[in-house]
Formats: sequence, structure tokens, C-alpha cells
Amino acid sequence: MSGTNIIEIKGLTKRFGSFTAVDKMNLSVREGEIFGFLGPNGAGKTTTISMLTTLITPTEGSATIAGHDLLKEGIKVREVIGVVPQSFALFPELTAAENLSYIGKLYGLPSSVVKERSIELLRTVSLYDHRDRIAGVFSGGMKQRLSLAASIMSNPKILFMDEPTTGLDPQSRIAMRELTKRLNKAGMTIVYTTHDMDEAEKICDRITIMDKGHIIADGTSKELKQKILPGNLFEVEIEAPTKEIVAELRRLPFVTAAELSENLIIITVKQRKGTFERLSDFFRRQGHEIIEIRSKEPSLEEVFIQLTKKDLRD
Ligand SMILES: Nc1ncnc2c1ncn2[C@@H]1O[C@H](COP(=O)(O)OP(=O)(O)O)[C@@H](O)[C@H]1O
Ligand SMILES: [Mg+2]
Repeated sequence: MSGTNIIEIKGLTKRFGSFTAVDKMNLSVREGEIFGFLGPNGAGKTTTISMLTTLITPTEGSATIAGHDLLKEGIKVREVIGVVPQSFALFPELTAAENLSYIGKLYGLPSSVVKERSIELLRTVSLYDHRDRIAGVFSGGMKQRLSLAASIMSNPKILFMDEPTTGLDPQSRIAMRELTKRLNKAGMTIVYTTHDMDEAEKICDRITIMDKGHIIADGTSKELKQKILPGNLFEVEIEAPTKEIVAELRRLPFVTAAELSENLIIITVKQRKGTFERLSDFFRRQGHEIIEIRSKEPSLEEVFIQLTKKDLRD
């Protein structure tokens, strides 16, 4: 990773009538990273991607993509990017191979190159054996893999992927993520959107959390968690935990939440300091022997819930 910024976004805004879908966004994406836009439906992820890929014109603001001005050099921008759109945008009546040849020709690649590259990419996305079947009959996972192959025909510097795993079965989701990581390792910068917190954490180097057109937090998943919940989550292992003991825990003044998760009790406290002693005391008084108390990493989901709750109160 070289660390230079391959995308710089300044004040990017999109309004549809009086509705603001993306509001004065500022951020940069570094060359070589997998950068994630994470947010619920309607957060503005697709609108952002559509602006950055020249599909729609920003209402305000600007961006540079691999050194090219988004507004003044749209053609140059299109030359260095690939896009995997949220919904299938290939030709269902063409075969997998025909879809790729068509895209290759659109890019003006010589036919020998198109042929070679199609075969290579069909192999990469594990569709070579299905190359002569029409795309319309493919499963969701196969369509999405073909869409990915099409989007990288021109060997783009930056690949935009809009919720590439939404609606796929778990196995296809894993395959899609593996492919994405492989492309990234080979040098492609990836801009990836998802509403799946777990997925963002698994695949993205850095994450921007969006809600209602605004960036509400950004950083690595580790930074996001530290910023928001500084170590106030604990996991306690005792012999035979019960619902009753969890209910008792919830009554303690220093406890904000307690939950039974299989054989563990997950406890959120108001502040980290002194927690270990307080919990030890409590369980001793209840006649339970503690096997272990561990500090637990919060999930991005917990971070998001905490953040958006704050938003609602504001
Ligand atoms: N062409 C459009 N006209 C009017 N409103 C739109 C249009 N496109 C998107 N929106 C609205 O903008 C908001 C953000 O949408 P979108 O960017 O698709 O969100 P996401 O991809 O995060 O689910 C939504 O409230 C959506 O209804
Ligand atoms: Mg979307």
C-alpha cells in the first residue's frame, strides 16, 4: 500500500428536489486499500457511488479520481474505473462468454485480447465451465461473479462494488469476498458498499459509516470501536449461568446491559475502571464461581447502534 490518495472527495452533495441524499461529503480513499461505505438502506451509498462513477452529476462539490477531475474529465475517470452495480446490468439473453466479449468490444480492446482476457476472467470467477450458458438462467451468485468479471475486463485501477453480496447465499457471499480480496492483493483499489456490519469488518481496511446522507464515523474497524466504546464490554464465564443471575446483573448500578449468549454472560458497563473487582464481588455474593472474565471487543453493530441512537436524540 503506497498511502497516496487515489480518490479525494470535497463537499460532494446530491439533492433530489428538496431531499438531500448525500450532504457535503469529505473523504479520501488511499491507493491499494479496500474502502467501505457502511450504512443502512437509504443512507446514500448508491448515490455516492453513482456520483463517483459519473452516472449522476453532483449538485455541489467535487472529487478527483486517480488524478482526474470528476466533473471536467468524466471520460478519463471512466477509463480507470470498473463498476459492479447493485442490480444485475448484463444481458440475460447472452451467454457468459458473449457478455464479456461484448464488454471487451465496448472498451475497444482488440478481439484477440478480448478472447484471451474473457477466458482468463471466466476462470478467475469460476464460470469457465458455464461460459456457453445464457446469463439469464444463472443463480444470483453466478450473475454477480459474471458482473465482477465484466467490470474488470479493462483492468481498472479502482473497482466500485455496490452491495455485491446482498441477496446471495452464504457460500456465494464468501466466494465474492475472496475474489474481492484477491483483486485487491493484485493491486486494485476497491470501494465497497454494504449494509452488513460483519462483512464490512471482514473485508474493509477502512470504513466510513453513513446514515441519512451523512458520514457519522470513519476509521479502521478497530479505531471505530475504540472511539465509541472504550473497553466497556465484558464476557463472563461461570458454571451454569441462569436467566435469574442475568436479571440480577441488570439491576446493578454500574451495568448498562447484560445478556446470556450460550454459556457466556455479555455485560456492558458504564465505565471500565474497577469492573473486574465489582463483577468478582457480585458473583461471589451470588455463590457463583467465576471461571473467567474477559474484556470483549464490541462489534461494529454495537458501534452503529450507539452512534445512530445519539443521532436520534440530537
Ligand atoms: N433518483 C432519485 N430520486 C429521488 N430520490 C432518490 C433517488 N435516488 C435515491 N434517492 C433517495 O436517496 C436516498 C439514498 O438512496 P441510496 O443512495 O440508494 O441509498 P443506499 O444505497 O445507501 O441504500 C434514499 O432515501 C432514496 O430514496
Ligand atoms: Mg444502495
